[in-house]
Amino acid sequence: SQVYLNGVFLPLEEARVPVLDRGFLFGDGVYEVIPVYGRKPLALEAHLDRLEHSLAGIRLDNPLVRTAWVSLLERLIQEATTDDQSLYLQVTRGVAPRDHGFPLQVPPTVFAMSKPLTPVPPAWVQAGVAAVTRVDDRWLHCDLKTTALLANVLLRQQALDEGAVECLLLRTGFLTEGAASNVVLVVEGVLCSPPRNHLLLAGITLDLVLHLAVQLGIAHAERPIREEELRSAEEIWITSSTREMVPVTRLDGKPVGTGQPGPIGLRLLSAYQALKS
Ligand code: PDD
Repeated sequence: SQVYLNGVFLPLEEARVPVLDRGFLFGDGVYEVIPVYGRKPLALEAHLDRLEHSLAGIRLDNPLVRTAWVSLLERLIQEATTDDQSLYLQVTRGVAPRDHGFPLQVPPTVFAMSKPLTPVPPAWVQAGVAAVTRVDDRWLHCDLKTTALLANVLLRQQALDEGAVECLLLRTGFLTEGAASNVVLVVEGVLCSPPRNHLLLAGITLDLVLHLAVQLGIAHAERPIREEELRSAEEIWITSSTREMVPVTRLDGKPVGTGQPGPIGLRLLSAYQALKS
């Protein structure tokens, strides 16, 4: 199927970006990942709002107006081979001789593609997954969804190396998020998530889950979460556009709560599933 590159739709194999692209040289770009169910994007406007925030955060003008984003994504969705998809879009500061300072008058590189959404393995939801913890050694602009993901990549790989699925991050003794997910937990019966600030990405999936919590009458607190609270939580769930809600039932080799997916998260998960139809 076709991808979008700088105004043109073409086969993925034919899409080429010059090696001087600042995305390649500097990781100088931002991106979004948007889930699509039954050829309908979930929370598209929220994702495009966050893209605006990321672009502004790295001082890039949005190359396309909202309607242009929507129509090009709609075309990718309709031309894709599967009904459930994940859209990837990326904007970089364009192609220019290598120099740290911004190039002048250089158009950004705009890329978008759809790929089939990989279903979450049923065993992950039934039994939960293992996660590990690490010190969050990323920069201080984690609210921006930038393509400079080396720290996230290294952290995620450390989880995989230990047979775990995600790495939960602690900064100065407080939980921030996962290497590529947000974290929500149950502490003394209350759904808790860390404050949304520059230390973590404002996840769209988490936002949807928190809205569902309000609808279901589940109490929620957004507050700093200490490492000890993470370790003694009754439930831990990770959220992301590609993996929805996954229960973490082992943390650093120890069971979380009962060691089984917990009831509050399971209620939210079934409400989340209903958003997809
Ligand atoms: N990542 N935090 C980080 C660091 C992430 O990379 C992601 C998602 C999230 C969850 O955000 P959302 O619910 O809006 O997907 C939180 C995407 C899926 C990725 O990089 O592939």
